[in-house]
Amino acid sequence: MPVHLVDHPLVHDALAILRDKRTAPDEFRRGATRISVLLAAEALRDVPVAAGAVDTPLGPADARRIASEVVVVPVLRAGLGMLDAVLALVPSARVGYIGLQRDERTAVASQYYSKLPDGLGNAYVLMIDPMLATGGSAVAGIQLLRDAGAARIRMICIVAAPEGIRTVEQQYPDVSIYTPVVDRHLNEHKYIVPGLGDFGDRLYGTV
Ligand code: PRP
Ligand code: URA
Repeated sequence: MPVHLVDHPLVHDALAILRDKRTAPDEFRRGATRISVLLAAEALRDVPVAAGAVDTPLGPADARRIASEVVVVPVLRAGLGMLDAVLALVPSARVGYIGLQRDERTAVASQYYSKLPDGLGNAYVLMIDPMLATGGSAVAGIQLLRDAGAARIRMICIVAAPEGIRTVEQQYPDVSIYTPVVDRHLNEHKYIVPGLGDFGDRLYGTV
């Protein structure tokens, strides 16, 4: 199963704020950052480290440093709400961008932008997109990453639907999905129920 359920009290506390319809954009942005730090830490749990040493004021100490390149790829626009959290954890990460927009009527995602770093083949690639609904955006994003040479791809989302997980699992069984929850289903407009509404609109106040 490529799904990793991140079940941490602090994750659920932040998720409650994001789900609450009364949460205003400023608090929503803080909640998105809080939850994303924890999700990203989990998704990078097995990142390779190299053993070394540092000098503390009191003498030498063993030290471990990240030994693999990390590339983080937010799916615009909602994925931007998770980016600062990942960069706070991995300041050396390079950043690629994928722009995808669901059609309001059909919910089919189309690409409007892509800018990815070179050398994805050796990197841990974290695709960040808070909502995994039909999975259309996720598979389009993963395909772009694959075409650019990415071999190790993880996806972090904040709310997933069973439909989206199935779609990613069927098309990319080697891509792990890190999420705190799998919600019940999609409604007739392909929104996740109960979900949290339109993440991008709530993040940027465009409701
Ligand atoms: C949202 C979300 C995902 C997508 C998920 O983006 O951020 O990218 O929908 O839905 P799917 O699994 O059915 O493809 P949206 O297209 O609304 O764009 P936005 O981030 O610019 O608001
Ligand atoms: N995109 C969102 O922002 N929310 C959903 O529930 C589905 C797609």
